[in-house]
Amino acid sequence: MGPVSAPPSSSVTVHGAPPVAPQAITAERYTAKSWLERESSELWPKVWQFAALERDVAEPGQYVVLNIGRESIVVSRTQDAELAAFYNACQHRGARILVNDRGCEKSYTCPYHGWSYRPDGRLVVVPENQQFPGGGVDRSKHSLKQLRVASALGMVWVCEDPATPPLEEYLAPLIERVSPFNIGSMTLVGDQTVTLNCNWKAVFDNFQELYHVEHIHPQHQELFDCPTASVDLFAHGHTGVSIIGHTLNSRLPIASEPNFYQIRQLEMFGANPKDYEGRVMDIRGDMPALRRAAGPRLGWDYDAFTDEQLTDIEQYNAFPNTMITAQPDDALITRARPHPTDPNWCYWDKFTFRRQPDPEVAKRHGVAFEPHDPKATLPISRPEHDDFDQEDIIEGRKTMGITIDQDVHYIRDVQAGMHSRGFQQALLCDEEARIQHYHDWLSAWMGNASSDL
Ligand code: FES
Ligand SMILES: [Fe+2]
Repeated sequence: MGPVSAPPSSSVTVHGAPPVAPQAITAERYTAKSWLERESSELWPKVWQFAALERDVAEPGQYVVLNIGRESIVVSRTQDAELAAFYNACQHRGARILVNDRGCEKSYTCPYHGWSYRPDGRLVVVPENQQFPGGGVDRSKHSLKQLRVASALGMVWVCEDPATPPLEEYLAPLIERVSPFNIGSMTLVGDQTVTLNCNWKAVFDNFQELYHVEHIHPQHQELFDCPTASVDLFAHGHTGVSIIGHTLNSRLPIASEPNFYQIRQLEMFGANPKDYEGRVMDIRGDMPALRRAAGPRLGWDYDAFTDEQLTDIEQYNAFPNTMITAQPDDALITRARPHPTDPNWCYWDKFTFRRQPDPEVAKRHGVAFEPHDPKATLPISRPEHDDFDQEDIIEGRKTMGITIDQDVHYIRDVQAGMHSRGFQQALLCDEEARIQHYHDWLSAWMGNASSDL
């Protein structure tokens, strides 16, 4: 078995330079209430936002509520099986109509005075309608206020501004790169939200650089080579990073024996870890063939994936607040949401996906189905949303996975430090190029008409 390819050295490819000069990344971006308020009027209405998993609005009447800052937006599946999106604000006196995160109803009834709307936003019931001037409210003129809505990557996205490019154009490079992983066909196994004592961009920035990985995620040096990661900077502020996996951090001496993670992977795909003693750097090169050979009996089909997709890890940050990490058998979607009034707090959502072993794959390839874990084939119902506080992670009552838990331990101290009179602005290194690109595009969106971007 030959090597996949020579590992590339660290690289940054610019596909869409921001239309502004490099911006100073000042503390006030994270700490000032005026920034939070400007974002609410100049950023969020212009961009496409990830609002719901498509699977959660599959049936007529199903809805998902996205609370973002002071705004609340509903995505629904109409009685005609179309997607719809509207503000969660009753046309009578403004009350929020839907107060649960998600659900399914034939009609959406405002709890305050009982005005009732169809899942497409049309007003259908006004109690005591004859009491309103002119003989009653003309229901055809008081639908809920609509937003643009579109789906991509198994996710539903919404946008308020008619001048913003269509979703397939806005998100084009990410759609191209993430589609092969078909996250929409994976099983959702986790739906979590943690409340964090930091600005929503502080946690998003944390997932736009690898510079901190060697310092707070020591386990990654046995899995990935972060120093040689390839970075992509896309138009509209999106970014991506591809990290070589099934290898070791190239800044460290080469181990003589496979480590715990490598042994687990080799054994799962039918190789003997002892064969790699003294040649651990061959593991990455051999892994695609091992996976393709063993995949069908395990219930996984790797035929459509490239060697790199079978060994490495790809992460994409969709501007302004959504991160997608995809591998053939699992994926994560995370999202930062601003607090309604306080720049020092935010919500961090995490959806966790896994590809369940599928007996049909073995059948198709004419081999016996032998899943690596027979329990992994049991059906999984959609997990309930779990909402908790950063203290729950810090004190060990909850986990979002070891890596995110490690980030959560530090991120509140980053926010606290940015309030100091001793800190004015960030000083970034090459490994933090994505943060600069992101903030330059943030300024561009907030200073320009969306039609110019
Ligand atoms: S505010 Fe909704 S019915 Fe009155
Ligand atoms: Fe991290």
